[in-house]
Amino acid sequence: MAYNAVDRWINTEKRNQVAILYVNERGEEKKLSYYELYREVNKMANALKNLGVKKGDAVSMYLPMCPELIISMLACTKIGAVHSVVYSGLSVGAFVERMNNAKVKILITADGTYRRGKIINLKKISDEAMLQCPTVETVIVVKHTDEIEMKELRGKELSYDKLIEGEPGECECEPMDAEDPLFLLYTSGSTGKPKGIVHTTGGYMVGVSTTLKNIFDIQPDDTYWCTADIGWITGHSYVIYGPLLLGTTTVVYEGAPDYPDPGAWWKIIEKYGITKFYTAPTAIRHLMRFGDKYTRIYNLSTLRILGTVGETINPEAWMWFYKNVGKEKTPIMDTWWQTETGMHLISPLPSAYLKPGSATKPVPGVFADVVDEKGNSVPLGTGGHLVITKPWPAMFRTLYEDEEKFKDVYWNDIPGVYKAGDMARKDKDGYFWIQGRSDDILKIAGHRIGTSEVESAFVSHPAVVEAAVIGKADPIKGEVIKAFLILKEGYQLKTKLIEELNAHVRYELGPVAVIGELEEVDSLPKTRSGKIMRRILRARDKGEDVGDTSTLEE
Ligand code: WT7
Repeated sequence: MAYNAVDRWINTEKRNQVAILYVNERGEEKKLSYYELYREVNKMANALKNLGVKKGDAVSMYLPMCPELIISMLACTKIGAVHSVVYSGLSVGAFVERMNNAKVKILITADGTYRRGKIINLKKISDEAMLQCPTVETVIVVKHTDEIEMKELRGKELSYDKLIEGEPGECECEPMDAEDPLFLLYTSGSTGKPKGIVHTTGGYMVGVSTTLKNIFDIQPDDTYWCTADIGWITGHSYVIYGPLLLGTTTVVYEGAPDYPDPGAWWKIIEKYGITKFYTAPTAIRHLMRFGDKYTRIYNLSTLRILGTVGETINPEAWMWFYKNVGKEKTPIMDTWWQTETGMHLISPLPSAYLKPGSATKPVPGVFADVVDEKGNSVPLGTGGHLVITKPWPAMFRTLYEDEEKFKDVYWNDIPGVYKAGDMARKDKDGYFWIQGRSDDILKIAGHRIGTSEVESAFVSHPAVVEAAVIGKADPIKGEVIKAFLILKEGYQLKTKLIEELNAHVRYELGPVAVIGELEEVDSLPKTRSGKIMRRILRARDKGEDVGDTSTLEE
């Protein structure tokens, strides 16, 4: 992977082309050519080797969008180590869980990150997490913001700059089997524990490069920008690996879409002449609120293809994006895929006839269907489970140390196919319309978060005895959290406690867990085996008929 994404370009005309164009919300930029990237990756790879990191070892990163994150990931790849990136928007509880599950020995983190004019102190979060991560032997710290007064690095902490100082800029690639693990990436499932998705080397490389090339029609003169955070699969596949495998210039932006003003993204598109732009429906809905004022100030005429991912794009947002950003000239690639799938599975190609809100059809080589519980195809127009019926190159291979759950969640329910966990329908033209998750997973601003993860966070607060969480529709975020809480005696759901609970969940899970509403209840609908019936809570919340409740315990 490292050879194909980096090394092979340095003997070609791409040697001095910008590989990574880092920009932040302050307008600062840093460009790394393929040659410079090559040297930096090699230095870090040598440094990691000196620390004893070997093929197959797990190394974690808790870093903002910055060149050092990409360099560290590729350095792992180069020596055959498995990277496990933890999204820097996750907080202590979620972070600790991911570190401990993978029994990580080395963590790479930073002092802080820029967000809407403020600096978020990542080191502080990491310090707190480290108190609960006994396997970590070394913490490498990137000085990123210059503004946080860092305590003297102590004990197991090392400075990134010092670590790579004097390391040679050459390093051999570790030969990898196609099936050797490339990375681990945790994602939320329907139980409290996050799942460690395992991706391997060969198929993933084929899958991400082919889909990116075909769907975004990557050309040698492209400046490609995917706004996803590297901490999610979109960042892995389509900010780093896909673009570098194709020798493209990939933009890495650190900051919010609306800071210093809602024209921030359009300004970047104008400044760098972005040709391909890939983002999320939630960001489009957010920016849409400001009308066409900001999209008119900047010249967006370099754009040739737009893309979206993360959730269904509502037709209003699609039209706004199409008119105001694409100026009715650029097609929109609505790409359906998952952390598990590694690569786009259902998506148009640029020449396709588009229907706003549909991800269209499976990409060439991928076979999907909509089936009932037993696995029989349902008639066109009818909703059912979205399944993939044949293997695809970038498919995940297992869940980290949990082969049983891997089989149970994805393969055993409907035998012979991959069950995606989404509901969908196929129209008369064979176009797929994704209807949302069939399991207890929320999509908050396109981010996946399990209801039971949020429930565990609530009950770890002393005031809460029991909690049940459902998704509530939100015009911008798609969904936010609605929690039903049984409180301990003596507690009342008043302003002070509400604030405390908000802060507590944020501390456990991070700002991804957006709470929309809290409601105090005396009991929760449960089956006799104690399973919370979220379906009933959802129906009641929408004022719908709650259906048959005769089998319920409470
Ligand atoms: C879930 C996977 C894959 C990168 C980002 C999310 C939903 C994703 C679409 C789309 C409708 C979509 C599905 C899927 N989803 N893309 N184009 N249209 N829904 O990765 O966090 O693993 O989430 O996101 O529900 O199962 P993820």
